[in-house]
Amino acid sequence: MNWEELEEKCAKCTLCGLSETRTNTVFGCGDRKSRIMFVGEAPGEHEDLEGVPFVGRAGKLLDDYFKALEIDREKVYICNILKCRPPKNRDPLPAEEDACMDYLRWQVRLINPKYIVCLGRIAAQRLIGPDFKMTVDHGKWFAKGPFYVCGVFHPSYLLRNPAGKKEEMLTDLKMIKKDTGI
Ligand code: URA
Repeated sequence: MNWEELEEKCAKCTLCGLSETRTNTVFGCGDRKSRIMFVGEAPGEHEDLEGVPFVGRAGKLLDDYFKALEIDREKVYICNILKCRPPKNRDPLPAEEDACMDYLRWQVRLINPKYIVCLGRIAAQRLIGPDFKMTVDHGKWFAKGPFYVCGVFHPSYLLRNPAGKKEEMLTDLKMIKKDTGI
């Protein structure tokens, strides 16, 4: 499958019930030749309306980190585990993740990145392993087949815990920038 076919298939997807409540699918954005992918959980309200990942409040915080560290958002690829918004932003159901994973697998195959950064627990537990614990394992690279995968705090979590983990996120993203050369 090429990008056009994959994107079209995703836009028409009815593999799970989220297709009935979505406004738009949120496929992904950024550089399809990047050596690094950032993978979040699922679209929120703004993403559902615009069809673009990380454009709401969490996305603005992610952009702030990228700006502070001089990481160019256009030069990385950003997408989510789920391509459709769960109602009221509830956690994805395992069956919804299962139904959606082939889109991400195809994206990874087409991009062929060296590094994958999971934004939040949901993506990290799916892509690194069910035992991944964010408080313990954030900012560590795990070798997964041909990729190095790491998990960092989800920007939405950082918005809810302003006093807590923001410094750790900065440290993790600095490390990621240094190790990946982005
Ligand atoms: N949260 C996510 O996990 N992904 C988005 O695209 C927006 C918010």
